[in-house]
Amino acid sequence: MRLVLMGPPGAGKGTQAKFVSEALNIPHISTGEIFRKNVTEGTELGVKAKEYMDKGEYVPDEVTNSMVAARLAEPDAKNGFLLDGYPRTLPQVSELDAILDGLDTKLDNCVEITANTDEVVQRLLKRAELEGRPDDTEEVIRNRMVVYARETEPLAAVYEEHGILLKVDGMGEVDEVTQRLLAALGH
Ligand code: AP5
Repeated sequence: MRLVLMGPPGAGKGTQAKFVSEALNIPHISTGEIFRKNVTEGTELGVKAKEYMDKGEYVPDEVTNSMVAARLAEPDAKNGFLLDGYPRTLPQVSELDAILDGLDTKLDNCVEITANTDEVVQRLLKRAELEGRPDDTEEVIRNRMVVYARETEPLAAVYEEHGILLKVDGMGEVDEVTQRLLAALGH
């Protein structure tokens, strides 16, 4: 199965992707996590990405697209994957289509996790206390929400037009949301 998981910051993409990728036995590919790993390791990619991430802005498409193309070419992604947080812009949608065309395959579904804004802000502020992620300050969270609404929310309509959009309510307990997600995917 080839899946995309989208939703606003704090909707639970990363949390749910872990359970869903395990249940479906496909690799979980999170662009945010790959960037954070590069930031921690101080790579050239990490230095470039940090500039944008710390402000809650998107890393430029050309940087993100080539990173995803390389990751999807790895053998474990051959029979399926769960992309968490990619694509987030229209050029990324086109790039993903081109990558999959090149591999003679296509996406099965895009799952949009929906959640109430007050709830997601509370989740991220709580994570800030527990983990201290640099982009979980109130100001940066607000900007991440604005950028999501402007750049990424409109992509749901694109996937709806392709007939592959599934909307899943992300409110409630983590395991309730997982059950809803798996049911929406027919599992
Ligand atoms: P990324 O790491 O993807 O961050 P994000 O989209 O802002 O999402 P989060 O990780 O904050 O939230 P989530 O929806 O994954 O929720 P989570 O499960 O973690 O990206 C970071 C940055 O990298 C971007 O801002 C950008 O700069 C860059 N980037 C990444 N991809 C890019 C791309 N394609 N193009 C350009 N730039 C890109 O949960 C959040 C919290 O809530 C956790 O503490 C969790 O425990 C808790 N929680 C989850 N579910 C529940 C629940 N049901 N009830 C209560 N608490 C819950």
